[in-house]
Amino acid sequence: MDTVLVTGGAGFIGSHLVDELLRQEYGVIVVDNLSTGNVENLDPSALLYSWDIREFKSLEKLFQIHKPSYVFHLAAQISVSESTKDPKKDADINILGMLNLLELSVKYGVKKFIFSSSGGVMYGEDPERIPTPESCKENPISPYGISKLAGEKYLNFYSIEHDLEYVALRYSNVYGPRQNPHGEAGVVAIFTKRMLEGREVTIFGDGENVRDYIYVKDVVNANMLAMKRAKNVSLNIGTGIGTTVNELFNKLCKFIPEYSMKPVYAPPRPGDLRRSILDNTLAKEMLGWEPSWKLEDGLRETVEWFRGKD
Ligand SMILES: NC(=O)c1ccc[n+]([C@@H]2O[C@H](COP(=O)([O-])OP(=O)(O)OC[C@H]3O[C@@H](n4cnc5c(N)ncnc54)[C@H](O)[C@@H]3O)[C@@H](O)[C@H]2O)c1
Repeated sequence: MDTVLVTGGAGFIGSHLVDELLRQEYGVIVVDNLSTGNVENLDPSALLYSWDIREFKSLEKLFQIHKPSYVFHLAAQISVSESTKDPKKDADINILGMLNLLELSVKYGVKKFIFSSSGGVMYGEDPERIPTPESCKENPISPYGISKLAGEKYLNFYSIEHDLEYVALRYSNVYGPRQNPHGEAGVVAIFTKRMLEGREVTIFGDGENVRDYIYVKDVVNANMLAMKRAKNVSLNIGTGIGTTVNELFNKLCKFIPEYSMKPVYAPPRPGDLRRSILDNTLAKEMLGWEPSWKLEDGLRETVEWFRGKD
């Protein structure tokens, strides 16, 4: 069976991908500096190198030893607000770190490079269409979004110049078990944890901001299909369905019936988009992928997981 490298494999999405790769009997190598990831997330059958993707020499040793056939690149600085405060650090990890992996993927003959990009930040505040297809103009406004778009542009360059095959997956808002509830994003994880602890939930703005929530297992399926299908393309991975934050809160209340507090409304956060919904038609055509988890089912499973954790 092929050996596969997963960067960011101790993180939220990466650890679910590792589980599926192991289930399908791939040999799995993980590079993760554990800055936001957690060893507890990771199946011990995966081989973990707690390294930083910015360390080219260490990475090269790993490529020499394991010669991975596929690279799933998920390691990233994922905070939009951190990226605004420190654009250089964001670029150092998200652009230069990725270039290390691209250089080594070419040198060691990787068959395909699958990149975790972002559809949520790719099309900016006012896309030409909602749900937004890939044909709409990219217009990221944060350094994080700019670094994701730069990553896709570099993939295009390496595919033309060095025949490296790739698929870039532009996720909408991913949620599910193991998501970090202490970040600024990941509203499902943040709300669920606070509600289970009987604490106040803060909604920024009027709660009518709309997002496209995709369950982590659907995202894993898209990654698995991208290994074998489609090449040299960026694909939206979302449901095409919009949900407001108020609706999300009410749905969570159904699964946490002991919670009786009302949400607290705070001023909107600068830079928060009003509406973000992705058109997933191209992923359906090119990967044969479609989301199979209804929001209610995904939320139920997520709440159960958070309950079991405490
Ligand atoms: N969660 C979402 O809604 C979402 C949406 C769009 C795109 N994405 C992308 O998906 C990927 C995974 O995100 P996630 O939500 O699982 O976040 P996460 O923080 O759980 O995972 C990121 C992982 O990368 C590791 N990492 C960070 N910097 C590193 C470095 N310099 N060297 C090595 N490892 C490093 C972290 O320790 C962590 O385990 C990211 O690339 C993110 O940008 C996520």
